[in-house]
Amino acid sequence: MDEKATLTISPDKPQLTRVVCLLLLVYFVLSSLWASNELQTPSFSHLADHCTNTVSPISLDEFLTRQKSLASTLYDLRQSAYVTEPSANGLFFANVSTAQWRLSERPLLLIITPHLKDGEVHPKLSVLTPKFEATRAKLLPIPSANSSDIEWIEWPEEANPYELAVTALTEQKTGGTIFVDGSTRHFIVDGLQKALPGAWVTAPPAEIKQLRERKSKTELEIMKCAHETTLLAIREVHKHLYIGMRESEAREMVATALASAGLSNGGCLTLFGENAALPHGSGSDSLLGQADFALFDCTANLLGYQSDVTRTVALPTTAVSPLNRVIWGHVHITQSLVHRSARAGHPTGQLDDIAREYLRRRGFERYFTHRLGHGIGIEGHESPYLVGGSQDIIKTGNAFSNEPGIYMEGKVGVRLEDCFYINEDGKAVLLTEGVGGMAKSPWVP
Ligand SMILES: *[C@@H]1O[C@H](CO)[C@@H](O)[C@H](O)[C@H]1NC(C)=O
Repeated sequence: MDEKATLTISPDKPQLTRVVCLLLLVYFVLSSLWASNELQTPSFSHLADHCTNTVSPISLDEFLTRQKSLASTLYDLRQSAYVTEPSANGLFFANVSTAQWRLSERPLLLIITPHLKDGEVHPKLSVLTPKFEATRAKLLPIPSANSSDIEWIEWPEEANPYELAVTALTEQKTGGTIFVDGSTRHFIVDGLQKALPGAWVTAPPAEIKQLRERKSKTELEIMKCAHETTLLAIREVHKHLYIGMRESEAREMVATALASAGLSNGGCLTLFGENAALPHGSGSDSLLGQADFALFDCTANLLGYQSDVTRTVALPTTAVSPLNRVIWGHVHITQSLVHRSARAGHPTGQLDDIAREYLRRRGFERYFTHRLGHGIGIEGHESPYLVGGSQDIIKTGNAFSNEPGIYMEGKVGVRLEDCFYINEDGKAVLLTEGVGGMAKSPWVP
């Protein structure tokens, strides 16, 4: 038996050597391809160490402070109530957004009224909920010192919910105005107005809006972490770009990087070459050309706060045209100029003017087609805005994007965006400062 086996194997030995050699060759070819960017799926897990584990969520105390400030503001204005559906402001004041409670035709309303007790103004939080959903509503993570502090108003299917809501509003007759959050749906505003014919149901004034517009220290810490991490993700992806890559492939890579970094709902408008000339994209899936810039406009969420960072980058081997180099430079200078000029006490519209004036002198103003920036926080775009004509006053704690751009259709688009906040000293501080802030060049984002 043994003799026979040896005899049948031995003629195969040279062939086995050939197979081994072939396998080795395949291995070397594949591993050298792997080493080049094209086949590599980069790992971004190291980005998670940056800060996302060290910032803390908004505490119970901070929520109670927000509710108290709202009550005091209402009291000072001699008005009776603030009403919101689950929304960005619902999240800000009561930790309830549409992620926790999906809007339906049946209203769930958060109502805050001021109450004077021992010479001090206290907030009272009432929640109007569909009766058959009351158990689910009571599971909402609404912060309160004692759960008994929340008044639940349950409306049965056959009742008029607004008439029941009024019971919470009219107890405290401080005045005739009910402020309803701006995102509240019209049929709710209408229902409240009909149930309260003698009252004025209207949008909140600046005094109330600025409670959210002026960020606290904790909020700014979260926002710094979100922005730093977003920028680190872009920088990391930049290292893995290559000529001939598809926009969709780069978009997927950067979304992976944002998720690996511990941010949620992260994604980037990813536009190559002339596609970037349409500020919100074109819909085609281009390949990165030898002379193209790549634009990444990224947003992500950390603990309920949004980031927004844009970089327009080139590769070491990109043949950047002289015009494109000039355009990048002008956008960069505009951004720096705005950043140095931002001051508490000045109108927001002035910053937009400064950006436009610089580009006008260089002949590029007509290619800067959108406003300079927006407020940022719980929402990616929120008030106050950096837009021409705005007389809103910049205040400490405000946070804005600063995102000038030049867009020449059919040719090129460049936008650079860093967000900043107004510090106690009235000056602007970049939310990306902890990782070096603004881009240095198309090659050093
Ligand atoms: C706010 O809601 C989230 C869930 O959405 C919860 O994890 C968190 O503990 C709540 N915050 C407070 C202070 O209750």
